[in-house]
Amino acid sequence: MTAGGGDTRRMKNILVTGGAGFIGSSMVRHLLEQESAAHVYNLDALTYAGSLENLRDLPDGARHTFIEGDINDRQRVEELLRSQAIDTIVHLAAETHVDRSIHGPAAFINTNIVGTFALLEAARAVWLGSGHRPDGAYRFHHVSTDEVYGSLEPDEPAFHEERAYQPNSPYAASKAASDHLVRAYAHTYGLPVTLSNCSNNYGPRQYPEKLIPLMILNAMAGEALPVYGDGKQVRDWLYVDDHCRAVHAVLERGQPGETYNIGGGAQRTNLELVNELCRILDELLPESPHRPHARLVRFVPDRPGHDRRYAMDIRKIQQHLEWEPSESLASGLRKTVQWYLANSAWIEAIRAEPEYRTWMERNYARRGEKP
Ligand code: NAD
Ligand code: TYD
Repeated sequence: MTAGGGDTRRMKNILVTGGAGFIGSSMVRHLLEQESAAHVYNLDALTYAGSLENLRDLPDGARHTFIEGDINDRQRVEELLRSQAIDTIVHLAAETHVDRSIHGPAAFINTNIVGTFALLEAARAVWLGSGHRPDGAYRFHHVSTDEVYGSLEPDEPAFHEERAYQPNSPYAASKAASDHLVRAYAHTYGLPVTLSNCSNNYGPRQYPEKLIPLMILNAMAGEALPVYGDGKQVRDWLYVDDHCRAVHAVLERGQPGETYNIGGGAQRTNLELVNELCRILDELLPESPHRPHARLVRFVPDRPGHDRRYAMDIRKIQQHLEWEPSESLASGLRKTVQWYLANSAWIEAIRAEPEYRTWMERNYARRGEKP
């Protein structure tokens, strides 16, 4: 492994999968902000979690092409890799919500495992098809999660890259399976891959089924804030733009075959986090009839198999790629709340979708809790 400041890979044509989702749309934005002349091809199936609204400020243009399509459509992906001379894949497309994976795991197996397999096969056919092992030109970067490592005890050290996998939810198991496939393609076929496993992200444009946007939207509307179990589960929060900077560092300077853990160094219990959001809302909405928003907290039955604690040891990416999180949790949460307050049209568009209402009713109403 080389230390940071070593050779920087140049990228000409990048394929981002899942680029109309929460992290993917930030990743596309981040790549287009770079001075290098890379073209970003954005392949997304526009499931319930993906939206062209997330790309509203990024119209198709000289350096960005949006393509509606499924990663499982292997022929189409192969054709794209060939015709656009793609040299870099940033694979984010996935089913991502743990609660949905508990209600219906099939889509997680199909997209996260079979879809990653299809993408790997396409990259293998196009990049390795002529039988030669590529030099440094190509890179398949797989974006994964800390949840593959399982759950930490309260005093256990944070997850490092050598930790054995112990996924507990269908979502985590599907991501773990895809990580293994990616690694196997490097080992067996010599596909030039990198992996990153990241902690919980938050920030603008996160679909409001996840903890932070759900709590912000419910608090704004004076609805209950459903905290699972005792609310003492710990997550390690990272602002989405910091995640995108980390992935970019791996794309440019990460070593083929390596995994990098990414995290925010900001461990909070869910209850601490919800209370902090409520304090920010109290301050930013002084006229709200729902103040103090923390009054809206309701403890609801726990998620089955709920992991108690995640935390990431980020020394490898700090030391080898000189990446650090730049946003503090306090400033990142504030920016996030401000974004949701300023983007009511985005919120209303999602709330109007039958898919959103169906999910909210199924996930909370069955427990007698209106969120
Ligand atoms: P998201 O649910 O907001 O977006 C996923 C995107 O993938 C959507 O735009 C969706 O339309 C697209 N997609 C789904 N199935 C597809 C398919 N078959 N073909 C093409 N596109 C498809 O997810 P996110 O939170 O932005 O997460 C992105 C990636 O980052 C995922 O791989 C996830 O596992 C990983 N990750 C997320 C977090 C987090 O906290 N959100 C943390 C670590 C890792
Ligand atoms: P979530 O945003 O679903 O992310 P993940 O499960 O991938 O960590 O949930 C974050 C934490 O918040 C998790 O411990 C579950 C908890 N949670 C609640 O307490 N209430 C909720 O309504 C949701 C969606 C999550």
